[in-house]
Amino acid sequence: IAALPRKEKFILVGRRLYKGFWLLEPYAPGILAFQRRFTPRPDDVVLTSYPKCGTTWLKALVFAAMARDAYPPDAADHPLRRLNPHACIPFMEDIFTKRQEAKLDGLPSPRLVHTHTPYALLPDTVTTGDGCKVVYICRDPKDMVVSMYHYLRRLHPDLSLADTFHSVLDGTVLYGPMWDHVLGYWHASIARPDRVLFLKYEDLLRNTGEHLRKLAEFMGRPFSAAEEAAGTVESVVELCSFDNMKNLDVNKTGAIERKYHSVAHDAFFRKGVTGDWVNHMSSRLDEIFHDKLRGTGLMD
Ligand code: A3P
Repeated sequence: IAALPRKEKFILVGRRLYKGFWLLEPYAPGILAFQRRFTPRPDDVVLTSYPKCGTTWLKALVFAAMARDAYPPDAADHPLRRLNPHACIPFMEDIFTKRQEAKLDGLPSPRLVHTHTPYALLPDTVTTGDGCKVVYICRDPKDMVVSMYHYLRRLHPDLSLADTFHSVLDGTVLYGPMWDHVLGYWHASIARPDRVLFLKYEDLLRNTGEHLRKLAEFMGRPFSAAEEAAGTVESVVELCSFDNMKNLDVNKTGAIERKYHSVAHDAFFRKGVTGDWVNHMSSRLDEIFHDKLRGTGLMD
């Protein structure tokens, strides 16, 4: 494995089952370091997601909403017009794997950070007391599988949709099982509604402005009457829209360099729709997720 190119190594390395979740072997120590060493500030916002569920979009919306005083969404030099959203909000797994925690200390408050870590594996300092706020985004698992398949195929061209489908059903794909990932955050959002906000990609797509307002309020930065009158909400929505983001030069070229692999910026912008799964698979996965998430209303 040592002799393989970096991206092939990333695919071939093992997965580690830790407290019921499958973590990618190379990032497992970083996740544990995050769990043990991250000390949140009370006004931190931790963005969380299962991979391929809308992380990039959530990062853009949250960044644009929180930075709107320094960078009005219409500004020509807005960071989101120059940087991929992943460059605006640090990814904890990568930061802790690279031992770059000191960078977090230097960030001004309120800090925005992101992780795919399951709720059960988050630092205790985040899940108890008044640690900080957590925003989770989930998505119809069928669309996640299709999105994951297209994403992983860039690293692993021989991967089939069936392989992706089966590793989701086994629960062994990145941070799986997905249903336990979703349920952890779902229960937390019910138990600690002032601390954990649970969002669905489909809701966000249906009415982005309404959910952006909810997000901003939850993060303690509601849009003022003056901002509403000035159309700031609509400007943020437009700045972060799929069409706008996908067509920015910065997102058509370049890549995010993680410790063990790199991801082309354009890999984060494929179709940006709901229901693409019907073009790819039968209803079998639908039935299984209805069964696994029964009673939550998440599949309605
Ligand atoms: P598709 O592959 O279905 O198009 P993540 O950011 O968690 O990796 O999720 C990627 C998915 O979110 C991809 O879905 C991508 O196209 C979609 N996406 C990225 N930016 C978006 C945006 N601004 N609006 C809506 N969807 C977006």
